[in-house]
Amino acid sequence: MRIELTEEQTLLRDTVRRFAEEVVAPRAKEIDASGEFPLDFFRRAGELGLAGVYVPADLGGAGMDMIAYCLAIEEISRVCASSGVILSVNNSLVCDPILRFGNDEQKREFLEPLAAGRKLGCFALTEPGAGSDAAALRTTARRDGDHYVLDGDKVFITNGTHADVAIVFASVAPEKKHRGIAAFLVPTDAPGFSRGHHEYKLGVQASGTTQLYFEAMRVPAAWRLGEEGDGFKIAMSTLDGGRIGIAAQAVGIARGAFEAALAYAKERQQFGRPIADFQAIQFYLADMAMELDAARLLTFKAAWAKDQGKRYSLEAAQAKLFASEMAQKVTNKALQIHGGYGYTREYDVERFFRDARITEIYEGTSEIQKLVISDWILKES
Ligand code: CAA
Repeated sequence: MRIELTEEQTLLRDTVRRFAEEVVAPRAKEIDASGEFPLDFFRRAGELGLAGVYVPADLGGAGMDMIAYCLAIEEISRVCASSGVILSVNNSLVCDPILRFGNDEQKREFLEPLAAGRKLGCFALTEPGAGSDAAALRTTARRDGDHYVLDGDKVFITNGTHADVAIVFASVAPEKKHRGIAAFLVPTDAPGFSRGHHEYKLGVQASGTTQLYFEAMRVPAAWRLGEEGDGFKIAMSTLDGGRIGIAAQAVGIARGAFEAALAYAKERQQFGRPIADFQAIQFYLADMAMELDAARLLTFKAAWAKDQGKRYSLEAAQAKLFASEMAQKVTNKALQIHGGYGYTREYDVERFFRDARITEIYEGTSEIQKLVISDWILKES
């Protein structure tokens, strides 16, 4: 694995950093307060190739690699975690499975507009009774001629408030449990589909989290992704890639908090000198910088493993677990360095602190990552 970035990756990182600072950062505080979904940001990100970073250019994407994708998610999340997860879901949870499992017609119809940012996607797996136990989902898909009829409810769906396309996991044969699940590409403008209210959360307020409802919704059989019974493996292998995106998001949030704390420590005067002169603060900064670097390296390792075309469940789970736990620690210390000011809405650090928390929950909780990691190391020994 290469440690330095290529010229192309460096150029992408610098371009995304400028875009993040000029376009995303100025509205981050406002959309966090209002919960408004930044659709205009998503469209502009699409024009830069960020809606489908590693989708080939002839299919609407930027045609880059997973490291480039991680750099992009880190730079966006460094200023706005909501915008980071919006892009991460569209790239890894929506474009990726269509790229890997879709046929030519599905790629033309769905992947091209999604990767170009003309359409927005969401990933509809979680249900009220099926969170960590994803195989327990109860949404059904009954075959009826050349259609399927979908019935069921999904919850906590990122991008759900505005998505044009949902990848929906439903059971075609409940008695077969996980082997009876299928995946569907579902346009959200068809009858039988509806959305719930915007979920008001602790953090990532503007990520359009909502419920999705399917009531006798007819979906053409041509929009089934993969075979009947493949759905669970499509979901799990897609989440492996998604977890790399969330690790990159956690690195970005932590870096935003770290940089704010570093600047504050140099400027804030107490006892007649900048607080950065005190060893207590210096040691905080040292730990934060080291842990950030370690998390980024694990994230790049997982991204590199995905690019090699091998199974990378272990690397992705390790990166996501480490980076999300690191983000809790780093944002917490950043807030501490800011003292009382850090606890106010005036400074960004309280937003980073709140946003970091979800990275330990979505796309598989920390406990689920430990299950995946321990399964792999026990299998290998
Ligand atoms: N890739 C391919 N296949 C996989 C796989 C993977 N990563 N993981 C499991 N499988 C296969 C297994 O090989 C097995 O295959 P067979 O049927 O041939 O035996 C099958 O899937 C079932 O595997 P398990 O017995 O391990 O499945 P399980 O029911 O015990 O579940 C789990 C395992 C790790 C707990 C899994 O359910 C899981 O990851 N849960 C967490 C769900 C999750 O991450 N949800 C996130 C929701 S999306 C979201 O959060 C988006 C957002 O808002 C940002």
